[in-house]
Amino acid sequence: MSKCLSLLCLFILFSCSKSGDVKKESVGLSTKYENQDYKPLIHYSPDSAWMNDPNGMVYYEGEYHLFFQYNPDSTVWGPMHWGHAVSTDMIHWEHLPIALFPDELGYIFSGSAIIDWNNTSGFQTGSEPPMVAIFTHHNMDDEREAGNNVFQYQSIAYSNDRGRTWTKYEGNPVLPNPGIRDFRDPKVFWNESTDQWVMILAVLDRIHLYSSPDLKEWSFLSEFGADLGGHGGVWECPDLFELEIEGTEQSKWVMLVSINPGGPNGGSATQYFVGDFDGKTFTTNQKETKWLDHGRDNYAGVSWSDIPDKDGRRLFLGWMSNWDYAQVVPTNEWRSAMTIPRSLHLTRVNGFEVSSRPVDELMALNKTPDVIIVNSEIKTEEVQALTLPMKTEVTFDLNATTADKFGFELTNTLGEIYQFGFDRERGLLFSDRSKSGKNDFSDKFSPQLHIASFEPSSDQLTFEIYIDRSSIEVFVNKGQRAMTELLFPSAPFDTGSVF
Ligand code: FRU
Repeated sequence: MSKCLSLLCLFILFSCSKSGDVKKESVGLSTKYENQDYKPLIHYSPDSAWMNDPNGMVYYEGEYHLFFQYNPDSTVWGPMHWGHAVSTDMIHWEHLPIALFPDELGYIFSGSAIIDWNNTSGFQTGSEPPMVAIFTHHNMDDEREAGNNVFQYQSIAYSNDRGRTWTKYEGNPVLPNPGIRDFRDPKVFWNESTDQWVMILAVLDRIHLYSSPDLKEWSFLSEFGADLGGHGGVWECPDLFELEIEGTEQSKWVMLVSINPGGPNGGSATQYFVGDFDGKTFTTNQKETKWLDHGRDNYAGVSWSDIPDKDGRRLFLGWMSNWDYAQVVPTNEWRSAMTIPRSLHLTRVNGFEVSSRPVDELMALNKTPDVIIVNSEIKTEEVQALTLPMKTEVTFDLNATTADKFGFELTNTLGEIYQFGFDRERGLLFSDRSKSGKNDFSDKFSPQLHIASFEPSSDQLTFEIYIDRSSIEVFVNKGQRAMTELLFPSAPFDTGSVF
């Protein structure tokens, strides 16, 4: 360990009190999972069974809704439902009954939800605007028919009781399939400048945009991406929104596109494009492929709809796994968690870059009655005992640091080790989970270092790190780079230090 490292390590330890007034079914910081080794404490995960993509993320009347791809009868992927949970802070979640079940049109694949404030759909019954879900119906029987490409369609459903009960529209599907195999994952938003709904849809390895006055009749607008970005796999779960350029009053449009496989470190990952949208067509000058997260475990994430203007954040979370091994990770009754919620920010660096930052609500946890926070600081050579879940910040002064490689590491009593660091010479951030515990469930889990190129624009390199029972999320220099990684130590990591 270099003695020249000048660093500040601030550990903020979260732990759970036994007597907190957490609601019975709430997750997050509940003590309910204390005996389940890998069950996350500050991440959403289902009580049991299989989960993948976040779906229908929408905010209404003080509640963040999270729907998700869910197979209630198994811990691997299968007949897809929309599971449902709500939260007032995106950290403590209340599980709700399944919102959408498969039907004669097929499984319920990924999609979005919006509040139809002006009742353009005509679905409103009482005094409150309807919540409308727009999703893909995937028909397994039609998929099995040899030579048939027509098995994915877009459909809608509505709720007039804050997402608690749902009715599928009798005119489904609202967007029939034009003869294309991969035709899915609609994300819908209201475009104020054209006064119409816009749907962004993943179609093979590109994007199609559609518009509608009422969520029922859709017209094709344009195509994007045939010769831009990564094309190592199929495009999935896109999103499109306007974001202010930090420090200015100007804005640009950001398109998120998940891709599987073809991620920068293998398997599935999410790329983004920064450009302009004129209500019909999205254009960009961006030449390089840019990634929202360089870790292996942040996929299919999109942003929340209908966040009030007075909040103004673009809030995001992703599925914290990777299709390379998601179905074989060593958990028992449940499989998969979501990332911690983040806000997205547009900065003028290397053209434009999208930064991801953990939401402030995470730090407000110390004000909730079910959490005890311990603050401590460690000196360079100190080894710090850990209590999970934990947030820690490590800052390296690059002028005072002579080491070629340095970073932060986690270890346990069995000698297992995880390292996150910076290789100065090569200008690379790296995450090494090769000796971090269980990894023999898949040869794709940790065959090599996971890396991200990075040139710090100041003398400081700061890692903001969130560690839960089976994950680490690192945000470098205010989220300019993010890396999200699953970890399955054979015994809990109980010390943290700098190397
Ligand atoms: C992404 C995805 C989506 C699809 C869903 C099915 O992980 O493949 O494209 O709608 O999962 O569960």
